[in-house]
Amino acid sequence: MDDKNPNVSGVPLKYTANATSPKKPQRRVTKMSRRRYRKDYGAVIALVLLFAVVITFSVILIIRNEKKAPDAPETETGIVTESGAESESETESESDAPETKDESIRREAAEYVDLTEADVHDGDLILVNHNYAYVFPTEDVLLQMKPRAEHFLVSTLDTSLRSAALDAFVSLTNDLYDATGVGEVLVVSSFRGEEKQREIYQDRVDRYGPEYAAAYVANPGYSEHHTGLAMDLTVYTDGASYDIETYGRTEWFMQNYDRYGYVLRYPEDKADITLINYEGWHYRYVGLPHSLIMDSLDFCLEEYIEDFLPNHTIDSAVCYNGATGEIKYVDALSYEKSADESLVYYVKSEGGKTSVPIAATPYEISGDNVAGFVVTIK
Ligand code: DAL
Ligand code: ZN
Repeated sequence: MDDKNPNVSGVPLKYTANATSPKKPQRRVTKMSRRRYRKDYGAVIALVLLFAVVITFSVILIIRNEKKAPDAPETETGIVTESGAESESETESESDAPETKDESIRREAAEYVDLTEADVHDGDLILVNHNYAYVFPTEDVLLQMKPRAEHFLVSTLDTSLRSAALDAFVSLTNDLYDATGVGEVLVVSSFRGEEKQREIYQDRVDRYGPEYAAAYVANPGYSEHHTGLAMDLTVYTDGASYDIETYGRTEWFMQNYDRYGYVLRYPEDKADITLINYEGWHYRYVGLPHSLIMDSLDFCLEEYIEDFLPNHTIDSAVCYNGATGEIKYVDALSYEKSADESLVYYVKSEGGKTSVPIAATPYEISGDNVAGFVVTIK
């Protein structure tokens, strides 16, 4: 290496070619300058070595990256387990890749509930009408109303309802009493079996003719009265019955029943859809917030169950704010709802078994008696 540097060749400079040119001052080579030259030369070597190391390292890195197969995604931390299995961080990195909506739901839902085809026909939101028969449950789901009749009247001792419908009706009539002093709302008819429905239908045919019967009475097997979720109400006082919607002191009831989960099932302006004439006495429990959403959007149960909800699957769930009445549509899996808000979404039945994704808890699931399930998160 020293051969390349004349200044450190070991030959005194005064004896080099410059010695023939006396005018040019000779460079004085001392011990000190030699040491400095050696030091400078060492620094150059170190720089060259450093440069070589950097270049070599870069080349190695490039070659390693090129060797990786394009379908082996880089992990965020670069960690791959020895067996070649993906590490946890690799899985996280892969989740950033585009994927189908179904895969996304499957990954993110808090839990799944497996339901059967039989479950489609059970729950507070089942649609029972001229098209959809009621599927009677194998076990008794009804409770007697009489023992709970604090501030309402029942026509017979065997009047019964499903438990959620009964609880809500007790609260409604208690609050009606507290607000107005009215305690005479009479439950004329709630649960009816198929045989009872057949009797009533025949009675109306006999008394008013088949057209009248068809306009006001559902065919046996197709009546909401089979479900234990519906009631016919009047007001009974001083030995006389009054229509609940026109009785002067039941204004509070008419303004508030939907806040307790009830809907007027056969409104006048929906008769062409329900195929039942206006019935100011027939109330149906659907639960909260459904009664409020239906009222707000002016839907009868056919519109709500058949037309509206199937368009609101988990990625465009109905978000109802109980404090403001606001309705908006959100992705239930990513939306952080407030305490005032409820989420509602539809899941279509897949036949034998349906895994219903649950976006959050607590939740309720009802069949619609048509083709799927409605999840309610409160
Ligand atoms: N009145 C209603 C339609 C029924 O009979 O179920
Ligand atoms: Zn009725």
